This record gives sequence, C-alpha cells and structure tokens, in this order.
Amino acid sequence: MSKSGANSRAGNRLSEEADTRIERLEAITDADLENLCDATNEAIIDGEGFGWRTPPSRHVLETFWRGVLMVPERTLFVARLDGVIVGSIQLVRPPNNNQAGAFAASVATFFIAPWARGHGLARGLLNESIEVARKQGFRVLDLDVRGDRSAAITLFEGAGFQRWGEKPEYAMVKRAYVHGYYYSLTLNGQQKTSKT
Ligand SMILES: CC(C)(COP(=O)(O)OP(=O)(O)OC[C@H]1O[C@@H](n2cnc3c(N)ncnc32)[C@H](O)[C@@H]1OP(=O)(O)O)[C@@H](O)C(=O)NCCC(=O)NCCS
Repeated sequence: MSKSGANSRAGNRLSEEADTRIERLEAITDADLENLCDATNEAIIDGEGFGWRTPPSRHVLETFWRGVLMVPERTLFVARLDGVIVGSIQLVRPPNNNQAGAFAASVATFFIAPWARGHGLARGLLNESIEVARKQGFRVLDLDVRGDRSAAITLFEGAGFQRWGEKPEYAMVKRAYVHGYYYSLTLNGQQKTSKT
C-alpha cells in the first residue's frame, strides 16, 4: 500500500491500493468509538499526543470523544484505513460571542495512529478541514504545533500555512519545556457573518 497525496472529499476513497477514507463523524457507534480510542491511545504512547503525556483511562477517552461530538462549534473528521478509524482532525469554529474573531477557525486533535501513517490520510484530513472551513466562509485557518513535530510541520508548510509565531515554553515534556509554533492559512473566503 502506498501513500496517496490526493485531495479528499468526505466519504470518498483516497487511494486505489488501500481503502483510505476521510469522513465527517456526527454520531459514533461503539465499534468506531473503540477504534478511535485505540488510535488515540497509540498516538499518545508514540509521542504524547495533543496535550496528553500518558494515556488516560478508557472511560476518560470515551467521554472526551463523545464530548467533542456534542460541541456545536466542533466538526470532527476521521480517517479510516480498511474501515477502521485511525486518526482525526477537528475543525473548531469560534463561539458566537467572539464576533471580532468570527473570521478565523482553527484545527485541533490532528493525528494518525503510528501503524497507519504514510497513506496520505493526514493530508486528506487536513485538506478536508481546509475545504470545509473555506466553504463555511472563514478567511483564516489557525493552528499551533509543538516544534518537534517535524512530520506535521512539513505537512502544514506544504499546505501553505505561514508561521507567524513561536512560543519557547509551549509544552512541558519530561520536565523540560518544548517550543511551539503558530501558523495561519489564508482561505480567501468571505467574512463570516455572526448570527447574534
Ligand atoms: C503528522 C501526522 C498526522 C502525519 O500522518 P501521515 O499519515 O503519515 O501523513 P500523510 O501520509 O498524509 O503524509 C502527508 C505529508 O506529511 C508529511 N510527512 C509525513 N510523514 C513525514 C515524515 N516522517 N517526515 C517528514 N514529513 C512527513 C509529508 O509532507 C507528507 O507528504 P509526502 O508523502 O508527499 O511527502 C502523523 O505523523 C502524526 O500523527 N504525528 C503525531 C501527531 C502530530 O504531530 N499531530 C500534529 C499536531 S498539530
């Protein structure tokens, strides 16, 4: 199975060789939740993923992902390899009270389980969130990333994200600070108008 760099559309295959799909998740089955928690667990063990340095209990992970699906400002996309959820990205819209910042969305919890990397799924997830943010009228997509995440940084910069900031004390890992970077992508969308 080889890596696919193809642009994705939700629910569509990314590669002819592996069954790789990007999908927006609005409700979750028990089997999908188990796979998503497994993937999260493996990513945390591999590299201390999105804030967790050690894997939380299964109950906490399940509550976390169920909670994500309940937050109106969050859209969850998952990547499937041969039908199994192996990674995610969230598109996060600003809350309604943030009228001044309503032009910018952000992405979070972006990862692929270590064993499922290299199939183009991360690019598919990122492209999907960019496309949806653009369609929703956002002008800017923001993200931040630990400075030692070289694979993610290569992907972000290749997708056109511009680095505009660095924070020396971004994360604490093994009792030492790790720096982090802040990126933005201009989407050329229309200004999002607030409904409030
Ligand atoms: C970053 C991550 C999601 C990439 O997953 P992946 O499935 O291997 O990525 P893809 O197969 O879609 O590769 C897309 C691009 O990512 C970059 N990339 C992937 N692995 C890379 C590596 N080891 N070194 C450098 N660049 C890499 C390349 O630009 C690649 O494009 P290419 O194949 O044309 O060279 C994965 O490594 C991961 O989960 N890392 C830990 C979590 C993390 O860092 N998340 C980001 C926090 S904001």
